[in-house]
Amino acid sequence: MDAKLSQAAFGGSSPGMVPLRSPLPLRQCPPSLRAMSFPETRPRRLRRTPALRRLVRETTLTADNFIYPLFVCPGKGVKREIASLPGQFHLSVDELAREAEEIARLGIPGVILFGLPEKKDEVGSEAWHAEGVVQRAIRAIKKATPQLMVSVDACFCEYTTHGHCGVVMNGEIDNDATLENLGRAALSYARAGADLVAPSGMMDGYVGFLRESLDEEGFEQAGILAYAAKYASAYYGPFREAVDSAPSFGDRSGYQMDPANVREAIREVALDVEEGADIVMVKPALAYLDVVAEVRREFDLPVAAYNVSGEYAMLKAAAEKGWIDYERTMLETLLSIRRAGADIIVSYHAKEVARLLGKR
Ligand code: PBG
Ligand code: ZN
Repeated sequence: MDAKLSQAAFGGSSPGMVPLRSPLPLRQCPPSLRAMSFPETRPRRLRRTPALRRLVRETTLTADNFIYPLFVCPGKGVKREIASLPGQFHLSVDELAREAEEIARLGIPGVILFGLPEKKDEVGSEAWHAEGVVQRAIRAIKKATPQLMVSVDACFCEYTTHGHCGVVMNGEIDNDATLENLGRAALSYARAGADLVAPSGMMDGYVGFLRESLDEEGFEQAGILAYAAKYASAYYGPFREAVDSAPSFGDRSGYQMDPANVREAIREVALDVEEGADIVMVKPALAYLDVVAEVRREFDLPVAAYNVSGEYAMLKAAAEKGWIDYERTMLETLLSIRRAGADIIVSYHAKEVARLLGKR
């Protein structure tokens, strides 16, 4: 199909919109666009050899697509495997520099940092401490491997005694008080040299608030990777174990999205785009591929998807049991996220994939 025909087949596209990825069902295509049928048409012709298959492949997977999550902890010389996330580690700042070099060597463009603070408190003030683990980590990585993109997850659940993503008032998370603290945290990350801040708490107005805070202090260059559509998901289990961030009362349904909703995701993304997000993210990825596809269709910003801890842990566990071919399942899974429309995948598999793709 040439471009004009495919536009017609896909129902055209309005300016600024990405054309639909999947064609309309055959019966809705104009007759001229219908493929001839068997025996003239034999789709298997293009599947005969690896070269033919490569030529007609529609989706690619490369190291370029990935952001790798890193967990920074206090101390020196610490490299402790995380029980709920086999193959992932708690790393102290000094160990992180070496890790960052390896990540860059593998061709992965960037990382996202999560911090395990020295001590937690009611509001999570370690999150904006100039000498906090994450702030020191940013500086260390930027010194060791300046070419690596450094983003920081900006949230409070790892930093608060109650494990919620913001300031608790009368048993609820106070949106606007949380924004103030979020501004402080984002500024401290930008000051330390972060390329992107990634607010993940699903507070209303967070992107606009951060954009303004950053600009006021002269950090116009610091970008915002917005966790735009983040669902209240059970797939975060292994992560919460890794950073000890499970809420001590209630759950996150008062701020994270209801898994049943997709139109609401579009509204959430639209708000973040309007408020100045540079990249919008859907999270989790696998149970929400329809959301990724919908966001891809509706917006022309780069779209990211977070292949979360539970998704990673399931493959690891099944592989350990000998029930799946780990490498093939991993590649197929990540390809599905790309096929749904994600430009960027945040994934604990990033290093394994980069290694694997480098060998082929
Ligand atoms: C913090 C945050 C979470 C994740 C990323 N940032 C946990 C949560 O919202 O409870 C989950 C990441 C994963 O499961 O891999 N708000
Ligand atoms: Zn949080």
